[in-house]
Amino acid sequence: MCGIVGYIGERQAQPILLNCLSHLEYRGYDSCGIAVSDGAVKVYKDAVRVAELKKTMPDFDGSLGIGHTRWATHGEPSRVNAHPHGDCQNEVSVVHNGIINNFLKLKQQLTSEGHTFVSETDSEVIPHLIEKYYAGDLEKAVERALADIEGSYAIIVMGYGENTLIAARKDSPLVIALGDRENYIASDVPAVLDYTSRVIYLEDGDIATVTAGGVSFRNGGKTAKRSEHKVDWSVEEARKGGYEHYMLKEIHEQPRVIRDTLGDWLPNGEPFEDLKKMSEDGTRTLLMLGCGTSYHAALVGKYIAQEMLGLPVRAELASEFNYHGRALPETLAVTLTQSGETADVLMAIKRLKDVGCRVMAITNVNGSSVSRLADHTIITRAGPEISVAATKSFLAQLMVLYWLMMSCARVEPKRQAEMVLQLRHMASRVTQVLDSEAEIAERAGYLAKYNDVFFIGRGINYPVALEGALKLKEISYVHAEGFAAGELKHGPFALLGREKPVIAVLTQDATHQTMLTSIREVKARGSPLMVLASEGDDSADSLADFTITVPRVDPLFSPVVNTVTLQLLAYHIARKRGCPVDFPKNLAKSVTVE
Ligand code: M6R
Repeated sequence: MCGIVGYIGERQAQPILLNCLSHLEYRGYDSCGIAVSDGAVKVYKDAVRVAELKKTMPDFDGSLGIGHTRWATHGEPSRVNAHPHGDCQNEVSVVHNGIINNFLKLKQQLTSEGHTFVSETDSEVIPHLIEKYYAGDLEKAVERALADIEGSYAIIVMGYGENTLIAARKDSPLVIALGDRENYIASDVPAVLDYTSRVIYLEDGDIATVTAGGVSFRNGGKTAKRSEHKVDWSVEEARKGGYEHYMLKEIHEQPRVIRDTLGDWLPNGEPFEDLKKMSEDGTRTLLMLGCGTSYHAALVGKYIAQEMLGLPVRAELASEFNYHGRALPETLAVTLTQSGETADVLMAIKRLKDVGCRVMAITNVNGSSVSRLADHTIITRAGPEISVAATKSFLAQLMVLYWLMMSCARVEPKRQAEMVLQLRHMASRVTQVLDSEAEIAERAGYLAKYNDVFFIGRGINYPVALEGALKLKEISYVHAEGFAAGELKHGPFALLGREKPVIAVLTQDATHQTMLTSIREVKARGSPLMVLASEGDDSADSLADFTITVPRVDPLFSPVVNTVTLQLLAYHIARKRGCPVDFPKNLAKSVTVE
C-alpha cells in the first residue's frame, strides 16, 4: 500500500525523506519519489526501490519536502505514474495514498478547463484542483480541492513557495510526528521512529497545517484540537535485529509477544460485561470479523467462544459482510485487525454501528482508525509488525481471544484452572517449536520443489490449515489451499496425486479419528504426505512421508503451536525458493483501500 512522508524543519529534507521512505518499504510498493522545496519545487521519482532512488538522484537543497512509495492502482508502475505529482506550472507537489473514485469526471472537467495531465493516476487530479483553487493561501486551496473529491485519501501538499506542509486524511491513515523545531508526517509510525516518538493521529476529515514550529488542525471548516500520543515501540523493535528477514524475527518474537499480551491485558470494563451477560442469558449473538490472517484468528475465536461460552458464534470476512452481512442491534461484534487501518474492516464497523451494534476491536496499533471507531479496543502487544506476512500479530490476537473468552467462560472451575495453566505455559511451548526450526527447515527443503500444496485440518485446526496455506502462498508464490479435511471427498480429491503434497494438522481431540481417515484417503491417492502430530502421537507415522512433532498441549490451544510450525515451514520454503520474503509482490502490509 502506498506510503507517504513529509518533513519540515531546519535540516536538509532529502536524506530524512529517503530514510523515512525506507522504513515504509514493508507496506509494499513498486515505485517511489520525493520532492524538495527551497522556494521552488524539485521532483525526482522512478519505478525503482528506495535504495536505487537514493543512488541515482541529484542533491536537492531545501528543508521541506514530501516523499512517496507507490503501490499501483491506476496505471502501471512507471516513472510518470510515480508520486509526487504536480500541477501544470510545477508550483505545487502532492503525495497521495488512497483512491479517488470520481477522478475520471474531475480529470475531464479539468482538461476542458485547460489542465494537462501526464500520468494515468487518479492522484494527479489533486494538484490540478489545488492549482485551480489557489489564490494566495495553500491551506484554503487544499480544503476547497478536497471538497470536490470522492473517495479515500491521505495527502501531503507543498508548494507556491509557502513554508508549510498541508496534510489531510479521509479513510487512509496519517500521523504527524513532533520534533524539536521540525515536524514529520507519515502514513505509519515506523517511518519516523528514528527521529521522534511523539505523534498525533489525524482524524477523518482533518486538514493539518504543519510548520517547523507547530501544527494546527481544521475539520469541517472549524479549528480542531488533537492530542499527542507517545509511541512505546523502540527503534530496535521496528528493525530486523540481526535476522535475515523481518518475518523470521517476528516469528521468533512470539514467546515475548505472548507474555506481553497476556501480562499486559486484564479483563475488565463494559465489553467484557457484555460478553459475560451474553454467556449468562444467551440472548445476544457474537459476530467475529476480520480479513486475511485476522479473519483466520476470528475463525479460531469462533471455536474458542463456542467451547467456552457455549454460544453459537458467527465468523465472517469483513469484505463480504460489507455487502451481504446482516446483524441485529443486539449483536456484539469483535473485529480483528493488526493494522487497525484495513478499509474493509473500517467499513464493517461503520455498518455495524449504523444498526446499533456494540463493536469491540482487537488491534495492534494504538490510535489507529479502528481503535478510534470501536466502542472498546484491546491493544495486542505484538509490537510493530513489518513483514507483510502476519505472524506475531496473529498469535497476539489468539491470546486476547483466549483470555477474553476465558474471562466469561461457562465451564467448571477445574477446567477453567486447567485452561489458565495452559495459557501460562504457551510461551514456552512456542519456544519449543522455535527450537525445532532446523528440522522444520529440512522438511521445507523437501517441499520447496512443489508448485501446489494442500493443507487440511478439522475443527479448531481448520482455520490453521487456511492460515498455513495463506502464509505459504503469499510469501513463496506456491499455489496453496487449505481445506476442512472432511471436504476433500466433495471435490479436492480430484486434484490429489504425486505432484500435490498434503500437509495434515492432526490433533488429539474429537476429530482425531476422522482426521486419520482423511490422512489414509490422501495416502491412497498418492499425494506426498506430511503430518503435524502432537508429541507421543505416532498414529500417523506409518502413513506419513514425514511427521513434524509439535509440543503436546490441550487441543483448544493447539492452533498456537501448529500455526508457529506452519509459519516456519512457509518461511523456509519461501527462502529456499529465493523469494523476497518480507515484501511479496503485489501485496501490501496495510490494505487501506476496499
Ligand atoms: O491489518 P489487518 O490484520 O486488518 O490485515 C488483514 C490482512 O490484510 C492481513 O492479515 C493479510 O492477509 C496478511 N498479509 C496475511 O499474512
